[in-house]
Amino acid sequence: MNRTPAGSIRPAQIGETVTVSGWVQRRRDHGGIAFVDIRDASGLVQVVADPEAHEEVADLKMEYCISVTGVVRARPEGTENPDLPTGEIEIGADDLVVLSPADTLPFMIDDRVDIDERARLRHRYLDLRRPRMGANLRARSRATAAIRRTLDAQGFLEVETPTLINSTPEGARDMLVPSRLREGEFYALPQSPQLFKQLLMVAGVERYFQIARCYRDEDFRADRQLEFTQLDLEGSFWGRDDVLDAIEGVLVAVARELRDVDIPRPFPRLTWQESMDRFGTDKPDLRIGAEIVDLSGLFVESGFGVFKTALSGGGTIRGIDVGPVEWSRARADAFTERAKELGAKGLVWMVVEEDGSLRSPVAKFLDEGEISGIKKAFAAGPGDVILIAADRWKLAVEVLGTLRNDLLRPTGHDELSFLWVIDFPLFEEEEDGSITFSHHPFTAPASLDEMRDNPKTALSRAYDAVLNGVELGSGSVRIHDPAVQRQVFEILGIDAETAERRFGWFLEALRYGAPPHAGFAFGIDRLVMVLQRETSIREVIPFPKTQSGVDPMTGAPTWVDDAQLDELGIALNETALARRDGDEEPGQPTDD
Ligand code: AMO
Ligand code: AMP
Repeated sequence: MNRTPAGSIRPAQIGETVTVSGWVQRRRDHGGIAFVDIRDASGLVQVVADPEAHEEVADLKMEYCISVTGVVRARPEGTENPDLPTGEIEIGADDLVVLSPADTLPFMIDDRVDIDERARLRHRYLDLRRPRMGANLRARSRATAAIRRTLDAQGFLEVETPTLINSTPEGARDMLVPSRLREGEFYALPQSPQLFKQLLMVAGVERYFQIARCYRDEDFRADRQLEFTQLDLEGSFWGRDDVLDAIEGVLVAVARELRDVDIPRPFPRLTWQESMDRFGTDKPDLRIGAEIVDLSGLFVESGFGVFKTALSGGGTIRGIDVGPVEWSRARADAFTERAKELGAKGLVWMVVEEDGSLRSPVAKFLDEGEISGIKKAFAAGPGDVILIAADRWKLAVEVLGTLRNDLLRPTGHDELSFLWVIDFPLFEEEEDGSITFSHHPFTAPASLDEMRDNPKTALSRAYDAVLNGVELGSGSVRIHDPAVQRQVFEILGIDAETAERRFGWFLEALRYGAPPHAGFAFGIDRLVMVLQRETSIREVIPFPKTQSGVDPMTGAPTWVDDAQLDELGIALNETALARRDGDEEPGQPTDD
């Protein structure tokens, strides 16, 4: 077919005969003439047809797939549409063919209409016809093209690693695939290509990248899916700064491609400690101020019981000034409740009055010196709302960090604020006192002595990239010495025998001249989400799952035949059988 893209036609083509093919976006009838907007991937164009000459016109409904041949002409004066790139012209239809009719639609193909997400996913192919979704698909394709261009120019090798593998721990549950040939055994889908990319370094690849699909069986959020895509990257003879430089280059290239902006480099860097102290989170949003301030010094001799107890218990008193936000009694109660949900014992709030006094339920417990000290600490002016938490350090800063986000964080992504968080702790302490890795167990410690002597406070060589308060990605300098790797496993409570059984193949590889290496991975879904000003990664994934892991279009996951289970050596337990033989339909959960 000799087609002209609908959205490309301009006044220079007036007088030319063109053929456009696409979908009926809209049809209006005026004075016996039909105006049909045809949409294809390139945009919209208006076709004018005489129903008497073309009887098919009478039947045209929304989303019919049609082809029109006709002459491009100027729109009559006064009927031009300046909002449309093709708004100065129209096509007078000489020939009109219905290529494929459409049933009545489940929803309008229109960005201005709010559609229930389940319905959108049920008919995703229609949802993807909407201009916004089409733009997101194209943006994603341009993002991966920019990534490949940038890394290719620097001599990186794109290597595919397997997706039917042995477990790679990244902190989530593995998704398993049963083996038919080896009944009772399972492959794990990769949570990331972590160990394979490290093996590629042992293999002498030196500069690796992959646009890798990863699988993690974890709870859904707006920025998580069961399967997602990472830009995964690794380099040999590299330290941290080589990685940050390479990744900055990629992120700047993608931002330029999708937003036409030049992001200044290097990105700001915060240590994890500084990030927690100032913003109460390891993914701070620097588009907003309201930094956390340590007020402990003001209250050493305080008569206020809450502050006294916190300090004598080894805690701290921290506050933020969120500025002149609206602050009613109901709002104060709601935020106090929120602080308690987050684990705080309470929340002190204060509003600076016009006369400089403080309105607060606890004002009566504070003396003049304390009140002026608080105002001075924040340089607070009339109307400012100050929130104070008295607790253990981590809880106090995290509660304030969350409230800061709740109150001030913009929902949009017009401004772009990239940053690095470096010097993460090596381990995290679980509630039961046991130790777990904070990035993954292959991350190098900052100091071996520190790791041995004080594992709970030891730092690692891990770093994160953050964009507008969203964790984009993580990476680290890796352990390339098998003895150190064993020590880390040991601290994590993985004994030598278990380490050998689970990771012996990997530890062995480290014994054949493994080069020092470092790397990173960022979530492409999350990056494109922010750059496209979306608030959920589902908007930039062509066929995502719902919050409960279901695809409403295909019905996945589904039951399988007994015969198929048999072949795999798998039997369903009673709970699963009861679900299968009960009323529950596969893929039709009740919780979303
Ligand atoms: P990490 O586990 O931090 O690091 O993952 C890197 C990035 O992948 C994205 N991501 C997700 N996106 C959507 N849905 C999910 N469920 C999901 N989980 C993670 C995030 C995250 O920052 N192997 C290491 C990297 C390395 O050390 O090189 C790793 O996977 O954007
Ligand atoms: P209480 O003495 O528990 O009634 O608390 C008095 C005020 O202090 C209330 O407004 C509480 O919300 C607040 N409060 C209590 N504990 C804390 C805390 N650990 N940090 C900040 N505020 C608190």
